Amino acid sequence: MRVELKLLQVHGDDRGGLISLEENINVPFTIRRVYYLMDTKPGVRRGMHAHRSLTQMVMCVRGRCHFILDDGTERIEIALQNPEQGLIVPPMVWREMYDFSEDCVLMVLADQLYDEKDYLRSYHEFLELAAATRISAAL
Ligand code: TYD
Repeated sequence: MRVELKLLQVHGDDRGGLISLEENINVPFTIRRVYYLMDTKPGVRRGMHAHRSLTQMVMCVRGRCHFILDDGTERIEIALQNPEQGLIVPPMVWREMYDFSEDCVLMVLADQLYDEKDYLRSYHEFLELAAATRISAAL
């Protein structure tokens, strides 16, 4: 699986904690968009899509949630449960988020502006494109 879970450095002292995110330093791309998910209702599952070319880095800055990540050959589950974890999700990875704590704030950095055409919202279409991409990479 091409996802990466980074451990971010905390600049903590007796006043509290601080984490800094800098493009092309501890964020492995140029940041073109930031958004965050909050007030997710109990039992809700979000995501349910992959991106054709977008790379993202996801931090749970408050609370907890779970991710399913699927690259078309392998499916893993990751819990984001503290703000020191930075999850890097490359293109062509199907993601589902669930079990959001009531206080969860999920912050997402992205290397492209919002573009609905970059979304694959059908799992079937995602699997077909992932398989075709693997075949052309093997040739
Ligand atoms: P959606 O992609 O469905 O969220 P999730 O995958 O987390 O469940 O986005 C929800 C709505 O917000 C949808 O109408 C598109 C809009 N949106 C933007 O306008 N800009 C953005 O950067 C994002 C991520 C979503």
